[in-house]
Formats: sequence, C-alpha cells, structure tokens
Amino acid sequence: MTLHYSFPKDFWWGSAASATQTEGATNKKSKTIWDHWYETEPNRFFEGVGPEVTSDFYNRYKEDIKNMKAIGHNTFRMSISWARLIPNGVGKVDQDAVNFYNDVIDELIKHDIEPFVNLFHFDMPLALQEKGGWENREVIDAFVDYAEKAFDLFGDRVKTWFTFNEPIVPVEGGYLYDFHYPNIVDAKKAIQVAYHTMIAHAKAVELYHARFDGKIGIVLNLTPSYPRSQNPKDLKASHICDLFFNRSFLDPAVKGEYPEDLIQLLSEYDHLPTTEKGDAELLKNNTVDLLGVNYYQPRRVKAKDYLPNPNSPFMPDWFFDNYEMPGRKMNPYRGWEIYEKGIYDIMINLKENYGNIESFISENGMGVQNEERFIENGRIEDDYRIDFIKEHLKWLHKAIQEGCQVKGYHLWTFMDNWSWMNAYKNRYGFFSVNLETQERTAKKSASWFKDVSEQNGFND
Ligand code: BG6
Repeated sequence: MTLHYSFPKDFWWGSAASATQTEGATNKKSKTIWDHWYETEPNRFFEGVGPEVTSDFYNRYKEDIKNMKAIGHNTFRMSISWARLIPNGVGKVDQDAVNFYNDVIDELIKHDIEPFVNLFHFDMPLALQEKGGWENREVIDAFVDYAEKAFDLFGDRVKTWFTFNEPIVPVEGGYLYDFHYPNIVDAKKAIQVAYHTMIAHAKAVELYHARFDGKIGIVLNLTPSYPRSQNPKDLKASHICDLFFNRSFLDPAVKGEYPEDLIQLLSEYDHLPTTEKGDAELLKNNTVDLLGVNYYQPRRVKAKDYLPNPNSPFMPDWFFDNYEMPGRKMNPYRGWEIYEKGIYDIMINLKENYGNIESFISENGMGVQNEERFIENGRIEDDYRIDFIKEHLKWLHKAIQEGCQVKGYHLWTFMDNWSWMNAYKNRYGFFSVNLETQERTAKKSASWFKDVSEQNGFND
C-alpha cells in the first residue's frame, strides 16, 4: 500500500525528555540551580510544585522503555544530569549514577531503541553556579571534563550525542527576562554566557571527534522571526531578532563563525563578549555533525513603535517588538501560536544557507492545560495532538521531498513531565501520569503514533 506521506527508510520516530524533568530521586544527587531556586522561592513555580515531584523515571525506566517500544519508538533523546553524575560538578563520578545511566542505555538498546544523549538541559550544578556558572570561563573546563567522562563511560553504546539543549533559554531566562535562576537582567552578562556556552560546546565537539566515533551535535530551538510586513523597518527588526535568538548559536555551531552583522551590532553598542586567543579557530574547526531542531511556534516581529530610551540598559529588544498578528492560529489550550509551515521554512533555510546539514526534529509538541477534561473511557482522547503532529509532519515530508536532510521526528515528550517554572501546568506526553499512583496511561496519540512509526508514514 502506498501512503500519502511516507518517510525515508530508517526514519527516527521517537520522543525527547530531560533528566531534571523526569528522573526524580533528587535525594540521590547533588543540587542544581533548580533545587536551589525552588528552596528559596517556591512561589515562583506553578502551584508551588518543584523538581522533586516527577514522573519517577529513575525507578520506573524499565516500564517506560517498554512503553516506548510498544508505541513504536526506534530512538529516544534523554539527558544526563551533570549534578547526578559528578556531585561536585568536577572530579569524581558517582557510581550509583553510572549504574543508573548504564542500565537505562542498556535497556533502550535491548528494546532496539537507539539512545540519543544530551549533556546539558538547563540544569547547572549549584556548586558551579556558585562559581559564576557560564559567566565564569573556568566552568567551560568543568563542562569538558564532564563531557569526556560521559563519552568514556557511555560512548561505547551511545553513538549520537548532543552538547546542549536550547542554549538560548538559560541566557534569556537567567540573564535577560527572569524566568531561570540566577534571575539576573544584564545583557552584557547574557552575551558572555551565550558565548561561553558555545566555546564549551566547541571544545566538547573537538574532544569527541578526536577520541570517539559517532555523531555529535547541538539542539537548537530555531524560531523563525517573521516580519509584520516587507517594509524595510520591519525587515530590519526581524533580521536583528533572528541574529540574537537563532543565529548567535546556529552560525557558530554549523558554520563555525558568528554572523558579521551581529558582531558589528554588538561592537557598535559596546557589547562584544570577552574572547580569548584561539577561540575563533576552535569554533571554525569544530562544527556539528548533526543538528537537533526544536520547533514549537514562530515569532512575529515588527519595528519598534517608540525608540528605546538611550539611557536605559541595552537589551536585544531595543531593536524589535513582538507583533500579535491578527488571525493567527493559536493553541487554545496553551496560548502559543500554531504555524505548521514554520517547520518547513526552518528546513529550507538549513538546506539553502547551512550546507543542508543533517538534522531532525528533536522537539515539537502541543502543551495542554487541564488535559484531564479530555478523558473518555479512561484515556485522554487527544485528537488535537494527533492533528498537530500530522500537520507538522506533512510540512516536514514536503521539506524532505525537496531535498532537505531530515532524519527524524521526536515529540516533546514521552510522558507528562515537570517543566521548570510551569511545573505541571502544560501536558505534552504520549502518556499521562497520575502523580499520586505513578500510573501511566497511553493517550490516543500514542496508538496513532505507533501506526505511523510502524508504517513509516500515514495517509491523510
Ligand atoms: C521546551 C524545553 O522548549 O519546552 C522543555 O526544551 C520544556 O524542557 C518544553 O518542558 C515545554 O515548555 P512549557 O513551558 O510549555 O511546559
């Protein structure tokens, strides 16, 4: 039977999750910035729920991996908790943590699910944040030490690695807009943090390529910034937004250099980061093998209605305003725009301007508040999520037909999980989780996804 939408052979069907959001067992690891922030300001978290309340993957990974297999996963992206593996941030590894990650990786492989492992998903060990976190260049060496230990311990079985998930998010959250610890608002520091992250990334890539065989990449939340109009002022606004929020990571990761116009702009406003001799060469020589693309929603951008006060502190949004485009389609259960074609535009951009780098959708998903309202006969009938995934897959299919090197699709996320300040507000999983009993129940989308994965595609 020929399907309307069939995908290339060996397409990666799966989902993504992160350590802090799923593992639990916080008493068996040292603290991250999340544990610390929650202890000091619990009211900043939705319904006061902190990172110790999770879906308990630490104890239930066998059941979860069995469920992954049952719904057709052939790949799964997880992250390692740096604070669990190396309690002091640098130095000695914790043997229980090694055993845990070995068991998870072995269990995945036993079920023919290829593990994709990410090193850093927003969870800076507190011990290192106390030394300045990514503001401090010395933390780069700690990261490289951690990466090397992870590669040494698990690299015999893990052949697909990622350094960072969405590195812009700790920059925005922690240093610009106050939604991650350390809650600093300072663009100069933000730019330094972003820069150090990319140096840490390139050093880990260099090390991996020198000593290990497999692929290494980075996961970026590429968010197309569409201008309100073709008016040059709107175009300029969207271009600058793209420079700050996409290209400050995408260009060094894939091309090995920062965009010239970003450097010029930062130099004009005296906001260039401090660099060291050899950095440019390091970036140039250590580009990624593979790019993970997280896509949820686009950004609509317009020129500013009012010029910023030149005495106010420099911020990226001196140069653009967000634009609430009339008539845009919204997710009524989460509040984000849904624009499926964005996924295609991203891939075409990678093909045309980034050497058609091998990529995959490493996160895409639909958050829903109070999802229990959709329970019928004991399971969540999430037809809206099936539509959401299907419409995105259609655009991805078109991109592949047009020659984009897209290797797979991962949903965010496998089972409902804790999500930073939003805690359990928005549910995204193929499985719902009863947090009191820890019972997992497949949603309708899970059985739909199983068919898609088994047939390697779908009919309309
Ligand atoms: C992604 C992050 O950007 O968004 C995840 O990588 C996060 O860690 C997800 O959980 C959903 O966010 P939210 O705020 O809708 O729960």
